[in-house]
Amino acid sequence: MESGYSIGQLRGAVTAAVRAPSLHNVQPWRFRLRDGGIEVLVDAARRLPATDPSGWGARVACGAALFNLRLALAVAGTPATVRLRPYPSEPDVVARLLPDLPRRPTPAEQSLYAAIPRRFSNRAPFWPDPVPADARWRLGEAARTEFCWLELLIGVSAVNAFAEVAQGAHRVLERDPAYRTEREEWVRATYTPDGVPVSAGGPQAESQDLLPSRDFGGRSRPPGRDFEPEPLVAVLGSAGNTAIDQVIAGQALQRVLLTATDAGLSASMLSQPIEVPSAREQLRMSLGRFGTPQMVMRIGYGQPGRVTPRRPVDEVLDLPVHQG
Ligand SMILES: Cc1cc2nc3c(=O)[nH]c(=O)nc-3n(C[C@H](O)[C@H](O)[C@H](O)COP(=O)(O)O)c2cc1C
Repeated sequence: MESGYSIGQLRGAVTAAVRAPSLHNVQPWRFRLRDGGIEVLVDAARRLPATDPSGWGARVACGAALFNLRLALAVAGTPATVRLRPYPSEPDVVARLLPDLPRRPTPAEQSLYAAIPRRFSNRAPFWPDPVPADARWRLGEAARTEFCWLELLIGVSAVNAFAEVAQGAHRVLERDPAYRTEREEWVRATYTPDGVPVSAGGPQAESQDLLPSRDFGGRSRPPGRDFEPEPLVAVLGSAGNTAIDQVIAGQALQRVLLTATDAGLSASMLSQPIEVPSAREQLRMSLGRFGTPQMVMRIGYGQPGRVTPRRPVDEVLDLPVHQG
């Protein structure tokens, strides 16, 4: 054994980590065992140059994977101490985790961990039932626990104003042929261990839809019908917008998504208004918040659905050479 963690524990934790969400399900992460610790890295070979030129999305996804990794190690009885971006000369190393003192997992850690294999992006219309107040509070608390904020849009006018910004950002992005090509390249009609399966894509957008949806080749729907009644829209934000802030936002995103799953709720993400800088600024101003919006979620009671595939652990975990 190279560290305070056994290889079995680390493999189990990486199995949980890769269940994290990522833009187009590219899974832009690697995990490396080094000097008694485990490290999370952005996989430079899995960047999306047209969709994610700054690497924001990859860092958010790695942050989400890091949250699952932390949770799995805590549930295994040895939580980790985490250093974010530990090596200035290696910016792709997002985090380094070392074993802390062993302790029993808390009930909250256990229930969030149990939610990992059940969470998925649910792009189908949600039921009209409102998200109850205690669940709303828990979602906000999940973001705050991870040093972020969560703004729930209240009322038709706030949601409509947001929808206008989001639709504008969607149109800007869709005008770029390289962006469209990249999205099409990651849509999967048959099984592959990455990319977005057509079956997970949600119904095709219609012109009357309030919120924009990325076209992942989903099925068409009867024309003229509303997608869903007013959904709960939540904006997740961080204190700043450095690379570290984006990793922190990814951890908060995953904590919010798992908290939603644990509360019996579904969620999907829409990041178009985050990806277009002017839209992101408009969103921040409309919320009257300091800091930076990092993700938008649609949250509600969803129809059943399925989790999407992931690459096997052996493909993303680098063991030290002598452990081969
Ligand atoms: C940074 C980021 C941005 C995302 N943006 C969108 C989006 O705009 N629209 C969408 O439908 N899903 C979006 N997603 C969700 C991914 O497409 C999804 O996580 C991935 O396909 C894996 O599926 P799963 O969430 O069901 O595990 C985003 C995820 C991340 C991490």
